[in-house]
Amino acid sequence: MSDKKFAESKVDTVRLQKLSRAFIESAAFFSCIDLGLFTAISEGNNTVDTFAQAANISTLNAERLMTMAASSDLITWIDGHYENAQDVQRFLVKGEKRYAGPWMTFTRPGWQNWGKLTEKLQNPDSPTVIGSYETMTVDHARDYHEATSSIGFGAGRRFIKHVDLSKRRKLMDIGGGSGAYSIVAATTHPELRATVFDLPPVVEVTREFIAKHGVDDRVDTLGGDFTLDALPDHCDVAVMASNLPQYNREIISQVISKAFAALEPGGEMHLIGEMLDDDHRGPLDAAIWGLLEVMSNSTGLAHSRGDCVSYFEQAGFEDIQVHEFVPGILARVSGQKPA
Ligand SMILES: C[S@@+](CC[C@H](N)C(=O)[O-])C[C@H]1O[C@@H](n2cnc3c(N)ncnc32)[C@H](O)[C@@H]1O
Repeated sequence: MSDKKFAESKVDTVRLQKLSRAFIESAAFFSCIDLGLFTAISEGNNTVDTFAQAANISTLNAERLMTMAASSDLITWIDGHYENAQDVQRFLVKGEKRYAGPWMTFTRPGWQNWGKLTEKLQNPDSPTVIGSYETMTVDHARDYHEATSSIGFGAGRRFIKHVDLSKRRKLMDIGGGSGAYSIVAATTHPELRATVFDLPPVVEVTREFIAKHGVDDRVDTLGGDFTLDALPDHCDVAVMASNLPQYNREIISQVISKAFAALEPGGEMHLIGEMLDDDHRGPLDAAIWGLLEVMSNSTGLAHSRGDCVSYFEQAGFEDIQVHEFVPGILARVSGQKPA
């Protein structure tokens, strides 16, 4: 057989079949969280019979769900019982400090809409600038940031390890949400002050997080829309994290330029987000967040690392660098404002 024929004979439908049923894997994952499978396993209800009893479902359905969870590498059968995979044990056992269940189910309310994606893609209406945020209320912001904070504080701790803020005096946290980055930064550096800038209903919730963490003497908030309103002044460091795919290139470029203008000379900026590699072949998560914007008919889309570097260049930043932040999920672009 020629090399070409051999290569052709190896092409099969396995990958395509897997993709066609990937939504069932998500559904099963959500049910594991709803029924507390990982928490049950951690507490010793780690066989089909004991989990069925703990979750109040039939042993038949417990077996089906646990078989699915094991096939998704969420749990493993060892010596006559199931054990959680390492990441599951760390992030999906309820009651533990790092519990991230609310973040894992964050996109689930859109479930019905994803079944209508084709129709959504055919929507002829012009996009709106702030998309899903137009209808944000305080109650919605509270639920939203219960989810983002379950992952955001971990990201804030990682940021503080990657970036030395010990000589900085004031941080602006653009679209700061729960204030996770500011709260961790202020807790780590007692001399640092921070202002969390976010939409007016959101900053009401931000203030609750700030008070809960006891940093209200140094972290404050400013309500506004970063596409329209002035950003906080007298800051020597700016962070904008996890709101990149919600806007188009022009808007993000304008916000970065606005941050540059607002920063003190010698200040620095960090843009953290789901960025595509420059060959536009992923990571998948960046593409997913870009596609999600179809649902709210916003202007948003996935930005590449190269796009983000060009926003920094156009704004006037120097020493622009791209760093891995959470590999496969988040990258960080940094730049310095000349002194
Ligand atoms: C996914 S959250 C990220 C929150 C936080 N930076 C973090 O990483 O944990 C995105 C945040 O951007 C805010 N945001 C989006 N558009 C905004 C706008 N036009 N003006 C101000 N804030 C905005 C949202 O309200 C939300 O709190």
